[in-house]
Amino acid sequence: MNEPLPIVVANLKANKTWDEVSSWIDDVAKSVVSFAGSVIFCPSYPFLVSAFTKISQNGISLKLGSQDISRFEQGAYTGEVAASQIADLVKYVIIGHSERRQNFREDNQTLAQKVTNAKNANIEPVFCVGGAETPIPQNVSIVAYEPVFAIGTGNPDTPENVKQVASQIKSKGNFTVIYGGSVSAENIELFIEKRVIDGVLIGTTNSLDSQKFIQILEVVNR
Ligand code: PGA
Repeated sequence: MNEPLPIVVANLKANKTWDEVSSWIDDVAKSVVSFAGSVIFCPSYPFLVSAFTKISQNGISLKLGSQDISRFEQGAYTGEVAASQIADLVKYVIIGHSERRQNFREDNQTLAQKVTNAKNANIEPVFCVGGAETPIPQNVSIVAYEPVFAIGTGNPDTPENVKQVASQIKSKGNFTVIYGGSVSAENIELFIEKRVIDGVLIGTTNSLDSQKFIQILEVVNR
């Protein structure tokens, strides 16, 4: 993991049309020029090609990520997207988000397979865990600590607890650890101030509105 810290991930989930995604990129483009860390933008699959083209043609310093990847390498798996199919477009992939674990019953074995497929395609997994006890597959470098109670609720974990969990995760290996769950422009400073936490994952609470997301980048950059 050679990207500059802190990492700020925007996960738009199943939201926005291409026109809206395109406007979001236009809005955020100006703020990422002066941003010292790395901003990883994760729209839905159908927009990865257009987002990639827009970002590269306009020299926008957003890094592109996918919200998921198939556990299958390739083949007869209708509706799936294989890591190798988006390897030219994305540098990152979110794996193991609690919404995938809950709604799609993704277990540890499935998630480990996804990590292997991503790494084989040269895509860096951002591996989500609900706590320090959640198993982390081999070859993961970036871990996102995301307690379920904090996701989309406006009720973040305490900075003290996040730092403790981040330290516990870091004691298990050479991990970059980010935090996700109701992060806002108002609270982000508390999460990243001591750099135990290397960044944040912003879900739909504060990433859908580009202005709220820009405010977060501005606070991080202060
Ligand atoms: P939130 O989501 O920022 O909306 O709480 C975080 C996440 O889904 O990872």
